[in-house]
Amino acid sequence: MTDLQIRRIPFSFDESVPFQWNPANPCFGLVANAIGVLAIAFEKYIVAVTRDALPQLRDPEAAAEADAFLRQEAQHARAHRTHLAALVGRYPGLSTTVAAAHSRYDALREKEPLAFHVAYIAALEATFTPLFRMMLENRESLFTPGESRVASLFVWHFVEEIEHRGSALVIYDGIVDNPRYRTRVARRAFSHAVDVYRLILDGFEEHVPLADRLVPTSLVAPRAMWLREMAARLPLLRHRRPAGGYPAAFQAVPTGELLASFVGLLRSQSPRHRPAGERLPALAGSWFAAYDQGVDMTRFEGSPLPAFPVDNGYPATRPGA
Ligand SMILES: [Fe+2]
Ligand SMILES: [Fe+2]
Repeated sequence: MTDLQIRRIPFSFDESVPFQWNPANPCFGLVANAIGVLAIAFEKYIVAVTRDALPQLRDPEAAAEADAFLRQEAQHARAHRTHLAALVGRYPGLSTTVAAAHSRYDALREKEPLAFHVAYIAALEATFTPLFRMMLENRESLFTPGESRVASLFVWHFVEEIEHRGSALVIYDGIVDNPRYRTRVARRAFSHAVDVYRLILDGFEEHVPLADRLVPTSLVAPRAMWLREMAARLPLLRHRRPAGGYPAAFQAVPTGELLASFVGLLRSQSPRHRPAGERLPALAGSWFAAYDQGVDMTRFEGSPLPAFPVDNGYPATRPGA
C-alpha cells in the first residue's frame, strides 16, 4: 500500500502578499511564481489524466499509489490557486495568463492518447527530485529571505514532490509496457512545459508592473537564465553580466551542486531510472518531523512580511532604463 500522506495545509493568502515575495533574490521569486502558475495547470492535467488511468491499473497497489498521488497534486493545485487568487486581486490581467496555461494542457489532452500523457507526467515528475533537492538544500539563499507564507507554500510543495517521486512512474508502468517510450516522449514534454513557462512569464511582464516584480522577466527566460548562471561563475564574463546588480536566481548555489542537479535532470530521463532510490534533502526530513509535531507549516519557512518596496540595494526599475 502507498506511504503517501494527504496533508491539508491551511494556507491563506490575501492582498498583503507581495507579487515579489523574495526581494533579496527577485529572479528566484519570479521563477517560483511562474512554477506556481505552471503547477496549477499541470496538476489539473495530472488529476484528469490519473483519473483516466485509474480504471486501467490492474495492480491494487499501483491503483492506491495513483489515487494518493492525484490527491496530493490536487492539494498542491488548490493551495497555488489560493495564492494566485490573491495576486489576481491586485493584477486582474493574470487571470488570462492562468486561462492560457490551462488551455495549453486542455489542447494537449484532446490531441494525444493516454500513453502519451502518463509518459509526459512521468518525464516531468522524474526531474523534480534533482531540481527541488538542489533548491531545498539552498534554502538560505532561495527561501529563507522570502515572505514566509509564499516561501512555506513552495517548500511544502517541493518536499511532497520529492515524497511522491516514484508515483508517476508506477502509473506509467501500469499503462505502458515500454520504458523507452517515456524517454522518447521527454523532448516533446519538456518543449510543451517550457512553452507554458514562457507564456506565464509573458503574462507577468504584461500584467505586473516592473516596480512590483523588481526584475524584468527576460532575466529568467530559460536560455537567458542559464547563460546568466554561467556568466556569474566565469570570472572573465562576470563583469559583463547583463542587468547590473541583480543576482542570477541560483547564483548563491555552489557550482558543483548546480551541475549535479543538471546531471540529475539528464539521468532522470533514462529508461532505467528509478526515482525511489534517489538521495533526499535533509530539509524533507525536518519538514516531515515538524509536521508530525504539529508545527504551523504555513509559516515553516521564510521571513515575516518585508516592508514593500524593499530597499535591497537594487534599483526598483530596470537598470539603464
Ligand atoms: Fe505537485
Ligand atoms: Fe508531483
